[in-house]
Amino acid sequence: MVCERCGGTGFVSRGDGRVDLCECRFSKEDLNRVLGIPKRFWDKDLDNYIPETEEEQDALFQAKVFAETFGEEEGFSITFVGPPGVGKTHLAVGILKKVYREKNIKGFFFDTKDLIYRLKLLMEERKTGRAIRRILDLPLIVLDDLGSERLSDWQREIMAYIISYRYNNLKSTVITTNFPLEERQGKTHGLRLSERIDPGTVSRIYGMGKVVYIKGKDRRRIGELKLWDEGNRRSG
Ligand SMILES: Nc1ncnc2c1ncn2[C@@H]1O[C@H](COP(=O)(O)OP(=O)(O)OP(=O)(O)O)[C@@H](O)[C@H]1O
Ligand SMILES: [Mg+2]
Repeated sequence: MVCERCGGTGFVSRGDGRVDLCECRFSKEDLNRVLGIPKRFWDKDLDNYIPETEEEQDALFQAKVFAETFGEEEGFSITFVGPPGVGKTHLAVGILKKVYREKNIKGFFFDTKDLIYRLKLLMEERKTGRAIRRILDLPLIVLDDLGSERLSDWQREIMAYIISYRYNNLKSTVITTNFPLEERQGKTHGLRLSERIDPGTVSRIYGMGKVVYIKGKDRRRIGELKLWDEGNRRSG
């Protein structure tokens, strides 16, 4: 079957005279590597995110709208908030792939902690200029698991730098986090993100775009239970 994207030529135009190699010339592995997607998520896509709750349905809808309306110059961002295992990272990966396929824009996936360490190394090597901007100027980045661990002062500073750079320069960011940005409807859901990173950073996250709260089951547990069940039935 001839590739719909490139008509079999192997190249797609960026619209500005430049061309890129078409995705059909990439193996699945290459595509995932280009976008920096961790191996566990190589098969994940918006098409195989199956929503069960209303919130999950809305989250999928928002993810699709975000990818479909993505504009490189607009700096619109999306933040997924929810407990472990509801598919936040899955959705973020799906967005990266859809934006790449449909808009030909290469984003990159970062585990937030990992990005903080990468930037620290670059800063220590005094590569403050271009090397850091090459990362921070990417048109789309995923900051996965923001606030997953308590940050030290220097880590908070770098975090604040990343977000304020993205905010000031109208760069789009997909954030996933376990922590609500603030108290919701008077209820405290354990820790809030504003207790983990600067309130100013949280405020910028609001200013960058949409915040989507997801409620649902921990799919990791369901997966494990199913495997355990099947294993038991086979051996029993
Ligand atoms: N709605 C869904 N449909 C299909 N698979 C799902 C769905 N939700 C979660 N999963 C799968 O469950 C696993 C856990 O999802 P994921 O890692 O995206 O959760 P998370 O919300 O990012 O959790 P954490 O906050 O712990 O990082 C993954 O394998 C993911 O593909
Ligand atoms: Mg995750």
